[in-house]
Amino acid sequence: MLKKAVFPVLVLLLLFLFSIPSMGQPGYIGVKTCKMCHKGEKKGNVFEIWSESKHANSSQALVEKGEQNNPDCLICHTTGFGKGGFNPEAGELKLETVECEACHGPGSDYKKMTVMKDSEAAKTAGLRMPDEEFCKTCHNPNSPNFEEFDFAKAWAEIKHEIPE
Ligand code: HEC
Ligand code: HEC
Ligand code: HEC
Ligand code: HEC
Repeated sequence: MLKKAVFPVLVLLLLFLFSIPSMGQPGYIGVKTCKMCHKGEKKGNVFEIWSESKHANSSQALVEKGEQNNPDCLICHTTGFGKGGFNPEAGELKLETVECEACHGPGSDYKKMTVMKDSEAAKTAGLRMPDEEFCKTCHNPNSPNFEEFDFAKAWAEIKHEIPE
């Protein structure tokens, strides 16, 4: 008798605990999770294209200048700095470059297969499809190395898509 009564309570408790991470603001999960589903030819080599882009190596430029701890640089050269993402003081290597989530938004709430497959649900869960204006949140004159930003040309360099 007792067992029968305890079981549903346990189930409810577990459901409650598992729902906690999805409460409040979505969190950053890192490129390794995106890679699981977005790598390989059949998926358009999205991960591979990103890996070879300058975004995937954007911490190196700071290291070379000895500026890897400068918040004025980290804001554009890492993922989610100051917004719950990269945190140099926590010694996290994760998110140290311009990863997927720097453009597509923190993924904790949209990473699930069922959500990802539903474009609208994914957007509601925080997935961003960035446009030219969004690129310019980093590609702008606040960058010490800024010259100009030609969206068409820049997008052609990093273009990735899911094959039909
Ligand atoms: C469990 C697998 C899985 C994970 C993990 C995952 N995705 Fe997806 N994603 C998918 C699937 C499936 C689609 C739907 C398109 C398709 O069939 O390939 C998709 C679609 C997308 C789209 C296109 C959405 C649209 O409406 O056009 C973007 C952008 C995207 N994912 C980004 C990410 C990012 C960034 C991460 C990591 C934070 C991530 N995904 C993690 C499986 C996944
Ligand atoms: C407003 C965003 C932004 C800030 C702030 C920023 N950067 Fe950058 N940085 C960029 C972008 C975007 C590029 C790519 C070049 C371009 O098109 O402007 C870049 C390129 C660079 C490069 C050249 C890399 C190469 O391969 O040519 C170096 C070095 C660099 N940044 C160092 C720094 C340092 C050091 C700081 C801090 C003092 C800093 N950046 C602050 C956005 C920024
Ligand atoms: C979070 C900031 C950030 C965002 C958002 C961002 N970029 Fe970048 N991007 C950078 C940084 C930093 C570099 C320089 C990396 C390096 O060379 O170390 C860079 C470099 C590049 C480069 C390599 C050529 C160059 O100028 O050095 C291309 C191409 C590029 N970005 C395209 C884009 C496009 C297209 C978008 C929007 C869809 C975009 N970026 C959004 C930060 C950003
Ligand atoms: C510099 C910004 C930037 C970065 C970094 C970035 N993306 Fe994208 N991504 C874009 C843009 C821009 C689009 C096209 C948006 C549109 O079509 O409206 C896109 C489109 C996509 C699509 C949809 C393609 C389609 O055919 O519908 C997927 C999936 C995707 N990105 C996944 C990823 C994953 C996974 C990563 C990391 C490995 C990543 N992206 C890194 C800017 C970025």
